[in-house]
Amino acid sequence: MIKTETQGRVAVVTLDRPKALNALCSELFHEVNDALARFDSDDGIGAVVLTGSERAFAAGADIKEMKDAEFIHNYKTNFLGHWVEQLSRMRKPIIAAVNGYALGGGCELAMMCDIIYAGEKAVFGQPEINLGTIPGAGGTQRLTRAVGKSKAMEMVLTGTVNLTAQEALASGLVSAVHPPEELVAEAIKTAAKIAAKGAVSVQMAKEAVNQAYELSLSSGLHFERRLFQATFATKDQKEGMAAFAEKRKPKFVHE
Ligand code: CAA
Repeated sequence: MIKTETQGRVAVVTLDRPKALNALCSELFHEVNDALARFDSDDGIGAVVLTGSERAFAAGADIKEMKDAEFIHNYKTNFLGHWVEQLSRMRKPIIAAVNGYALGGGCELAMMCDIIYAGEKAVFGQPEINLGTIPGAGGTQRLTRAVGKSKAMEMVLTGTVNLTAQEALASGLVSAVHPPEELVAEAIKTAAKIAAKGAVSVQMAKEAVNQAYELSLSSGLHFERRLFQATFATKDQKEGMAAFAEKRKPKFVHE
């Protein structure tokens, strides 16, 4: 249900369940998790791009698969827990390249990534309320932090107010909009740029930015400063600063 490829130090994971608009059934999600775990532990990979098709990044959790599920089953199996386990463990940066629909779990999956690029026709929404349920993989939390309470409420409570790519850009949910056919290439270009930096400082920077969502400002600043100090134990910090002083390009060794 997915395709994977590598381009230099960048891995690309493409959701490939076109007939169901990449609805995130459990088999698909396990394939994504396995691929991400493999790339995360591969020293030859520095960043990952996650994408779907031009019609749909993902149209949400698989409604047909879950429609008859009962609370006890959901609770005992911690339903949707497996969605966040690998993605929140990812140490390497992951860029979502979103063309077409990113609805429900599709929008939530994009928001679990570190950077979102949108194709011009992308649609972001949380329509779960129309199904008699609510977002279950971060839609009420990450969306609210990204677009603010009023817009998040409007989206989550009506299930029909969606964001276009331009609106998503204006609200800060995504950081760039590209023509659909150029989107994945642009995401790969950014991923390659990141993958060319020292891998240790990239991971530390990702960790520090993510703590901005978890910690108070003073704790976050303390955490950041300790990591900054720690970068001076890496070969890449020595190389990066020496290269600047010698007016040449750094050669990072990811150590
Ligand atoms: N689950 C299962 N199947 C889905 C699906 C989903 N989330 N989304 C689309 N599909 C299937 C359709 O059933 C259809 O299959 P058939 O050809 O077998 O009938 C196929 O994909 C194509 O879909 P449509 O014919 O509906 O395509 P469309 O272009 O007319 O509409 C759409 C596109 C607006 C995205 C529409 O498919 C839609 O509304 N999908 C559901 C969106 C949704 O409600 N997502 C939230 C799911 S719940 C969730 O995600 C919970 C959570 O927080 C984790």
